[in-house]
Amino acid sequence: MSFTIAGTGYAHPVRTLDNEELTRMVDTSDEWIVSRTGIRSRYIATTETLTELAVSAARMAMDNAGAEAASIDLVICSTVAGDTKCPTLAGNVLGGLDIRCPAFDVNAACSGFLYALQTAAAYMDAGLAETVLVIAAEMMTRHVDWTDRASCVLFGDGAGAVLLQKGEGLLACRLRAQPDKKNLLVIGQGKSHSVFEETDAAPSVLAMNGPEVFKFAVTSMCRDIKEVLDSAGLGPEDIRYVVPHQANLRILETARQRLGFSEDQIAVNIERYGNTSSASIAILLAELVEQGKLQRGDNIVCTAFGGGLTSAACVIKY
Ligand code: ACO
Repeated sequence: MSFTIAGTGYAHPVRTLDNEELTRMVDTSDEWIVSRTGIRSRYIATTETLTELAVSAARMAMDNAGAEAASIDLVICSTVAGDTKCPTLAGNVLGGLDIRCPAFDVNAACSGFLYALQTAAAYMDAGLAETVLVIAAEMMTRHVDWTDRASCVLFGDGAGAVLLQKGEGLLACRLRAQPDKKNLLVIGQGKSHSVFEETDAAPSVLAMNGPEVFKFAVTSMCRDIKEVLDSAGLGPEDIRYVVPHQANLRILETARQRLGFSEDQIAVNIERYGNTSSASIAILLAELVEQGKLQRGDNIVCTAFGGGLTSAACVIKY
């Protein structure tokens, strides 16, 4: 299957919000947040726009790949909420990078980056693109209810990007979705009105049933990783890193034990970022490359779960 990751990049806002500062906003403690989630701090946008973060991450990925704007055939952005509904985030990114090519957003909540990767692969397999820029960028803090201690401690902002070129690096990929019948994870559209009457739509703040999402996360991660490893004909011993969606350290630890990976095979940066939704895997990947931890030829497994309810996993030879 289709692509090689030629370059990676990431960006985050300047302002950090650590657990200690959160204790002055809601009834919580550093000890509770660290022990339940692994999060110590997160980045939170103040003056930055999501487009600016996405463009910075993309520039870094293009520079790392040595790719010119003119060589890009397609831009796909994963986000749950761009700066504007229209233009899309991908449309706004075209302006920032002076690129002219088809560009669109995908929204599969926290699984969106992996949905975007498989979409890029499908374009390449169909002969419609040879070089694709995939960006995952999120400002979850725009959608957080800052009075809800159960959710506001979890999220942060950031962007990650990959410059993909036609190749043989995607060894297996599986996307899934099932109806969220019990509204376990919802971000609504806010109060809206038609020409005729005002309607009460779900509020635009995030509402989540944490413990139920936790169970969904562990179950889907274990199932999806097993499935893509089988499909690639690989076992845990063949994998340099699992690069998982960063939602909760306890989710990662539970899945790690069930799947038989060692601690040093699980890549983690949640302590500095919190949960950046679909951007988390892309940021983590770029940091692993920047830190020299990922070498050409290494196999990685990426895995994500989130609203929808969606989940996804893929095996990539870097
Ligand atoms: N500080 C202190 N106490 C808190 C806090 C807080 N920030 N939040 C909740 N509590 C309290 C609760 O009120 C409850 O108190 P009680 O026992 O007196 O009723 C107690 O802590 C336990 O609450 P639970 O919700 O059961 O805590 P849990 O151990 O499940 O941890 C958490 C909550 C961290 C949200 C966990 O369920 C989780 O991570 N779930 C998965 C969430 C997730 O992955 N979401 C993202 C996926 S999709 C996406 O990325 C957009």
